[in-house]
Amino acid sequence: MEIGIIGVGNIGSMLLETLYNENYTFNIINRTRSKLKKYEKIESIKICKSIKDVYENSKYIFIAVKPQHIDEVFEELSELEEKENYLISTAAGKELKEIIEKTHKNNVIRIMPTVISKIGKGVTAISFNKTIEKNFKKSVIDLMKPLGKILELDEEKFDAFTILNSSGPAFVAFILESFIEGAINIGLHAETAKDIVLKTFEGSIKFLEKEEIDLSELKYRVSSPGESQ
Ligand SMILES: NC(=O)c1ccc[n+]([C@@H]2O[C@H](COP(=O)([O-])OP(=O)(O)OC[C@H]3O[C@@H](n4cnc5c(N)ncnc54)[C@H](OP(=O)(O)O)[C@@H]3O)[C@@H](O)[C@H]2O)c1
Repeated sequence: MEIGIIGVGNIGSMLLETLYNENYTFNIINRTRSKLKKYEKIESIKICKSIKDVYENSKYIFIAVKPQHIDEVFEELSELEEKENYLISTAAGKELKEIIEKTHKNNVIRIMPTVISKIGKGVTAISFNKTIEKNFKKSVIDLMKPLGKILELDEEKFDAFTILNSSGPAFVAFILESFIEGAINIGLHAETAKDIVLKTFEGSIKFLEKEEIDLSELKYRVSSPGESQ
């Protein structure tokens, strides 16, 4: 199987490193080539000189450049003949309709990934152009299994999903920072505060899952009301 990646930044490198499998060949390209140096010696990773090279040698082509840079990639793709291969866009806010129009391709899939999929724990939303057959959808979903949960989602829900899931890790980091700052303010050493906060969050999630209780039950167990006087 040949997999292409156009743009190897946060998401492109996450996809490359998480989907990496010795049975696959990866054809990758990045605007700043020096970023790809660490992949140079890996036999199954080919650093390409052009988007055409990536497209023509890959069955699945992930496009992982920022939305403000994506039009130039679409334009280059639009000049290439459609083959038995599939474009998979990761760009926030770029709808299938626009990608199809600008690339002049029908085999188009949209995903909304998250950086935490690097440890196989994230949720990735996926939406297919309606011309893509049901049987084929399963093979794309199987390909992406190492990313964690793959959720087929109506495109109109992608914006809400992006805020919750793809931007979510940044909000989580913000909340954790606030807890740590609070802990430091009440006298704990920074490292100790961080350790306690991370373990409390991790433990609370695992506890909810293992005990199979809902959030209100956890709140009740921690803050069970005292006897009224
Ligand atoms: N980051 C997230 O958590 C997240 C979550 C969900 C969706 N997304 C989406 O994923 C996409 C990528 O985001 P990102 O955070 O990975 O951005 P990023 O870290 O900036 O990576 C984008 C990469 O694309 C490269 N690039 C730009 N133009 C190119 C071109 N014409 N040809 C080849 N490579 C090109 C850039 O090269 P340089 O090295 O020259 O900059 C950069 O390495 C975006 O569309 C974003 O909406 C991101």
